[in-house]
Amino acid sequence: MSGFYGFLFQVYPYVCFTVFLLGSLIRFDQNQYSWKSDSSQMLRAGTLRWGSNLFHVGILFLFFGHMVGLFTPHSVYGPFMTAGTKQMLAVVAGGFAGLLCFVGLTLLLHRRIFDERIRHTSHPTDIAVLLVLWVQLVVGLITLPYSWQHADGSVMLILADWAQRIVTLRPVDATALAALPWPYLFHVVFGMTIFLLFPFSRLVHVWSGFATIGFLFRPYQVVRSRRLNVPAGYDLPGQPAAVPPRSVAASGATSRPTKAPVVPVVSKIQERPL
Ligand code: HEM
Repeated sequence: MSGFYGFLFQVYPYVCFTVFLLGSLIRFDQNQYSWKSDSSQMLRAGTLRWGSNLFHVGILFLFFGHMVGLFTPHSVYGPFMTAGTKQMLAVVAGGFAGLLCFVGLTLLLHRRIFDERIRHTSHPTDIAVLLVLWVQLVVGLITLPYSWQHADGSVMLILADWAQRIVTLRPVDATALAALPWPYLFHVVFGMTIFLLFPFSRLVHVWSGFATIGFLFRPYQVVRSRRLNVPAGYDLPGQPAAVPPRSVAASGATSRPTKAPVVPVVSKIQERPL
C-alpha cells in the first residue's frame, strides 16, 4: 500500500529505528557528559521517591510486555493458549502496570511543572519527555476497552503480524492497520515517535540502565594499595601471585618466587569497589 498509511506503517518505523540507533551511537561518541538520567533528587526528593519508583516499575513491565506480546510468533504460544487468552492476559496485566505507571508519571509531571526549583532547572526536553510519555500512556489505557471488545485477539494478531514483518524486513499490510480504531493507530505512531526523540533527550539513560545487567557478570576489580607496596603480580602481601607477572610468564619460569617479597604491613587489600 502506498500513500499516507503506507508511509506511516512501512517507512516511518525504519526512519525512527535508524535515528534511534545511529543517534544514540553518535551522542554516546560525541557527547558523553550529556549521557545521564539527570536525576533531580538533590533538588527535591519527596514526590520523586513514589513517582519515580511507580513509574519505572510500570514502564519496565510495559516495555517487556510489549516486546514479548508483539514479537512472539503465534506458532510459539499457539499450542499453550489461544490468541483470545493472550489478549485478555495482556489487557489485565498491562492494565495493572499501566495504572501504576500512570500514577507515577502523573506525580513526576506534576512535580516537574509545579515545583519551581525543579521547573527552573529543567531543560525543555525534560518536560517534553514526560508529556510525550504521559500522552502515550493515556492513549494506551484508552485502547483497553477496545481490546476488551475484541476478546478473540484479532486486533492483537494484526498488530503483532505488522511488528514481526517490520523487524524481519517483509512488506506489511498497511490497509489492515489503517482500518483499526484511532487509539491503536495513534498509539503505534506516537510510540515509534518516542524512539525518534530518544537520542535527543535524557531517555538515553535507558541504554545504560539495561547495560548495568553486565555488572552481574564482570570480574572483581582488584585494588592494590600503594601504601602497602605490594609488587606487581602479587595479590596479597607476602603471598605468591595468583597470576604470574607478565615478565615471569614470558620467561617460562615459575610464578612462585623462592623468597616472598618484604612488605611492611599485612592486611586485606583485595577490596570490592564501592
Ligand atoms: C532500564 C532501567 C532504567 C533505569 C536503571 C533507570 C534509572 C533512572 C534514574 C536513576 C533516573 C533519575 C532519578 C529519577 O529522577 O528517578 C531516571 C529518571 C527517568 N527515567 Fe529512567 N531508568 C530506566 C528505564 C527507563 C525507561 C524504560 C523509561 C521510559 C521509557 C525511563 C524514563 C525516565 C524518565 C522520563 C525519567 C525522568 C523522571 C523525572 O522527571 O525526574 N526510564 N531513570
